[in-house]
Amino acid sequence: MAKDKVRVTDLGRMKAEGTPIAMLTAYDFPFARIFDNAGVDVLLVGDSLGMVVQGADSTLPVTLDEVIYHTRMVVRARRRALVVADLPFLTYQVSVEQALANSGRLIKEGGAEAVKLEGGITMAETIRRVVDIDIPVMGHIGLTPQSIHRMGGHRVQGRRSGTSAGCRERLLEDAAAVEQAGAFAMVLEGIPAELAREITERAAIPTIGIGAGVGCDGQVLVMHDVLGLSESFLPRFAKPYANLWQDASAAATSYIREVRGRTFPTPEHSYGLKGA
Ligand code: KIV
Repeated sequence: MAKDKVRVTDLGRMKAEGTPIAMLTAYDFPFARIFDNAGVDVLLVGDSLGMVVQGADSTLPVTLDEVIYHTRMVVRARRRALVVADLPFLTYQVSVEQALANSGRLIKEGGAEAVKLEGGITMAETIRRVVDIDIPVMGHIGLTPQSIHRMGGHRVQGRRSGTSAGCRERLLEDAAAVEQAGAFAMVLEGIPAELAREITERAAIPTIGIGAGVGCDGQVLVMHDVLGLSESFLPRFAKPYANLWQDASAAATSYIREVRGRTFPTPEHSYGLKGA
């Protein structure tokens, strides 16, 4: 793991060297600091915050101001990792001008070093124009959660053959379009491992997979899934490395029991009239 600050340009070098890129989402200071200290390469302030932080059932309601708010906290905590912030639904699809202005806000007001947006061929011109004003763009193709209504839910993409949205050949074209438009990396979400490997082998830029198998140049997971901070449903691709939901529940239960039993606070946790 490099000690130095991770820059957008380092990810391409990591692909060339065969060093896997580790990316996690983060939305606040403590977890961003924990992940940064642990050596994660990229912190993504994802619009997944709508679901895992705000309790919504999709990412669609998330606003740009909310992503800026969370990005500031993550940037304050970060020492080494690259910070990428998501452009939420309808903050870049309306016009290129809208995408330029809102990408600029994520950089200028949020402190992000790059933005991420969803879409392939249809977003290529937008990516090109944002990159043209020196804002690095991370692409995102495959299962794109902002397209939940078109996809009919959070469904694995690229299993069918064809050139319409979500089909295998179309995803290969989407990946090529994102790369040609100047993105420095792209997320491959919810696609068969074989297809993700093929896209990765064809692409000159790094691919970062989520539910896309081990053949990508890096992996990303949502922090709540990694830490076991979800109440119930865990998608198949997500691996919990801790069970913080259980730990936090146990802590709260113990606290309540001690308050009710007057066993907290003890003198150890109380102040006297004298003393330090
Ligand atoms: O919003 C998000 O967290 C994401 C990741 C799942 C890649 O886009």
